[in-house]
Amino acid sequence: MSKKELIVVGELNVDLILNNIDGFPKIGTEIIADDMNLTLGSSSAIMAANAAAMGVNTSFCGKIGKDMFGDIVLKELNAKQVSTNYISTSETHQTGITIVMNYDEDRANVTYCGAMELLTIDDIPWEELTEFKHFHLSNFFIQKGIRKDITLIFKKAKEAGLTTSLDLQWDPENQWDFNYEECLPYVDVFMPNEAEIKALTGTSSIEEALEKVTPYANTIALKMGAKGSIGIKEGTKLEITSFSNPNHVDSIGAGDSFNSGFIKQYIAGKSLEECLSHGNLMGALNTTAPGGTGAFKNPEEIKQKVKSIFNVAI
Ligand SMILES: Nc1ncnc2c1ncn2[C@@H]1O[C@H](COP(=O)(O)OP(=O)(O)OP(=O)(O)O)[C@@H](O)[C@H]1O
Ligand SMILES: [Mg+2]
Repeated sequence: MSKKELIVVGELNVDLILNNIDGFPKIGTEIIADDMNLTLGSSSAIMAANAAAMGVNTSFCGKIGKDMFGDIVLKELNAKQVSTNYISTSETHQTGITIVMNYDEDRANVTYCGAMELLTIDDIPWEELTEFKHFHLSNFFIQKGIRKDITLIFKKAKEAGLTTSLDLQWDPENQWDFNYEECLPYVDVFMPNEAEIKALTGTSSIEEALEKVTPYANTIALKMGAKGSIGIKEGTKLEITSFSNPNHVDSIGAGDSFNSGFIKQYIAGKSLEECLSHGNLMGALNTTAPGGTGAFKNPEEIKQKVKSIFNVAI
């Protein structure tokens, strides 16, 4: 087996996805979903599963409960060739779950966090971290046990010799209590989307938001949905347009798949432009199948799909 490459630290939950619903439900009423899926959820797990499907040697560090949802999480990660050695089980809390209501291209989520909140800095396998090349952490705000030590975690990962990346994701409490000035110097690639970077910096435009964050960030990979992505590194700004997807199914996990594609190239030492472009390609591929992992099986199938759908050779 090749050397361990990527360790993803993050939240674990299943997604119960309700599709084809007729508008969003109102209090005191009931509506019908014509389709339902129970899958591996969580931003971090989707990122890890898809990186592994792309051929990156990937391990996961997280926490689940002693229940059937926890079993599903482990089974799905193992099936995707993600090592689950660093996943621990809580005695007190159940596995997290997100109920996703899909309506056209938009969605509403409700999350029960459960065991994911108990993951702390002490659960990270610091002794074995030097075996890895890259450290990725996602969904900062909903991991209460991780939040308080975020700067120390990234500092220690850098000291262990790894490159690092962070996807904050949305803050469900809308407080945006993340000290980017202190933490981002230890983050090699900061990976927000447009809404997140604006909310984090309290600004109303991307330009203003980037101006605030850039002095502290090494590389920024900004996700812009169907518009593509922007990269900023050492004063250079790159805008890379997205791949047009003729068969849009849903956008769940597009940002995580972007992260997987970007980080795969980053670990391989590719240029920022190549990383962004591959992130865009994997984000677009994500939208061709249901949920966050449906489009990602193995490197061979991914190669065939991007050739047939986007006419791109990888
Ligand atoms: N409809 C689309 N068509 C083509 N590419 C897309 C589409 N939606 C997303 N992408 C690609 O995926 C990338 C990531 O998507 P997005 O910007 O939605 O991330 P995100 O907001 O972090 O998503 P998530 O909700 O999964 O966290 C985009 O930068 C783009 O390259
Ligand atoms: Mg995202």
